[in-house]
Amino acid sequence: MYQLREGIKIVESYNDISFEDRVFLSSGTESASYSTNQFTTPYCTDAIVPRLPWRTLTSTEQKILFRNKVNNSSNLYVTLLSIPQNILCHLKELGSVKHHTALQYVLEKESVAKGIGLIHDYIETLRLQNADVSEYGIGSNAPNQMTVTVGNRDCKVGLHIDNQRGSSLHRILINLGSQPRYFLFINLSIQQLYRLVSETDSNLVNETWGSSRIGRAFMQLFPNYPVVKLRVNPGEAYIAPTEHITHDGCTEGTNSLDVFFTMRVIFS
Ligand SMILES: [Fe+2]
Repeated sequence: MYQLREGIKIVESYNDISFEDRVFLSSGTESASYSTNQFTTPYCTDAIVPRLPWRTLTSTEQKILFRNKVNNSSNLYVTLLSIPQNILCHLKELGSVKHHTALQYVLEKESVAKGIGLIHDYIETLRLQNADVSEYGIGSNAPNQMTVTVGNRDCKVGLHIDNQRGSSLHRILINLGSQPRYFLFINLSIQQLYRLVSETDSNLVNETWGSSRIGRAFMQLFPNYPVVKLRVNPGEAYIAPTEHITHDGCTEGTNSLDVFFTMRVIFS
């Protein structure tokens, strides 16, 4: 299966960011063991990552992937938004942090704490349904990595689906670093992945499996299905249903620390 199927859309709903020059498709997926960089955290043995090269979308693929508006508040979608300058100006110092050990020190500064408070207020203005705004994280990733998520086995998990916790539909992640970073995802929901794998071979997956395992079964069975790569510039955020789609962050091509703010939310 080489062709992009109808599934999760990238929606232009919150502002006027144009998606055309910032979305790419991979040639499929492959085992991470082919692309491990010895200078960064190693990949887990079962990790799967996008297969290079990246290419731009055809007009048919653009029609499949993009939509102008969110149709229904319960729909899963991916979108970008720009964080207002009056918030970002308090957080500039985070963009110049050179090493993750220095991050905690900068976070304790008064102006950064004020900026984080303003981010909470801003997210409150976007959110129309309940979400726990107290649960947030600020973290960092090394530059120039195809995927960034490290699991509890101290190895990079590759493309994965976050464990479901409660009713959260989406996650917001703000790029507070100084360079563009990327959001990688397969535009199919966990239900679509399960259906496609079990239609091909009903013995391959079990409904009781964890989401990431179903995602990996899909990528092994359909290694030519493309991964979407969405560029998120400094000061921008992505919103994505990370408990429902196969995804990861990516810092390919960068040379400075990736600093981010993230929170689980239910947007309408
Ligand atoms: Fe994740």
